Amino acid sequence: MIEVQVLRPDDWRIWRQLRQEALTDAPAAFGSTLVEWTGPGDTEPRWRARLTDVPFNVIVRWCGIPSGMVSAYNIADDGPVELISMWVAPLARGRGVADAAVNAVLRWAVGRPVGLSVKVDNQAAILLYQRHGFADAGPSPDDPGERRMLRSMTLNPTP
Ligand SMILES: CC(C)(COP(=O)(O)OP(=O)(O)OC[C@H]1O[C@@H](n2cnc3c(N)ncnc32)[C@H](O)[C@@H]1OP(=O)(O)O)[C@@H](O)C(=O)NCCC(=O)NCCS
Repeated sequence: MIEVQVLRPDDWRIWRQLRQEALTDAPAAFGSTLVEWTGPGDTEPRWRARLTDVPFNVIVRWCGIPSGMVSAYNIADDGPVELISMWVAPLARGRGVADAAVNAVLRWAVGRPVGLSVKVDNQAAILLYQRHGFADAGPSPDDPGERRMLRSMTLNPTP
């Protein structure tokens, strides 16, 4: 029922569709805004660049419906992996889509710690990340409304 697809830049249309849905559905959860990614900011070269500059991008299908997304990149060559752009469509929440997305990042990051930033009041996301072994790592230096969470490199992906 749940399928994970790793995207290439040619897959920018499906990424665009889900990302615009995510920014519409949950604007408070993200640093980017819908305004930045619609209108003049909504161009094929920009979406392709996004899928090139960030090296790991996944969508998750639930019952064949594109329903979830996540990305990851390396902060430094051998440094921690940063998990970003996590979203599950409301119709697919509570069905394992978020687990599949997080596990895809953990497999890609294997052997490296994984970090992320999450809004302090985003309880669903915090619970999800805690379930996958992330621990609170203090306030974000970039945004007082966010916490950092970190997952040790010694943990294996959650089965
Ligand atoms: C965060 C998100 C990806 C979680 O997806 P999901 O499919 O609901 O994930 P899960 O079913 O694994 O639920 C995660 C936890 O949140 C809990 N939860 C679900 N809805 C909740 C709510 N409204 N308030 C508080 N907790 C909630 C679940 O019980 C679960 O807790 P558990 O691990 O103790 O069982 C999804 O809610 C989402 O896309 N939110 C908007 C975007 C976002 O916040 N992205 C993360 C940016 S850091």
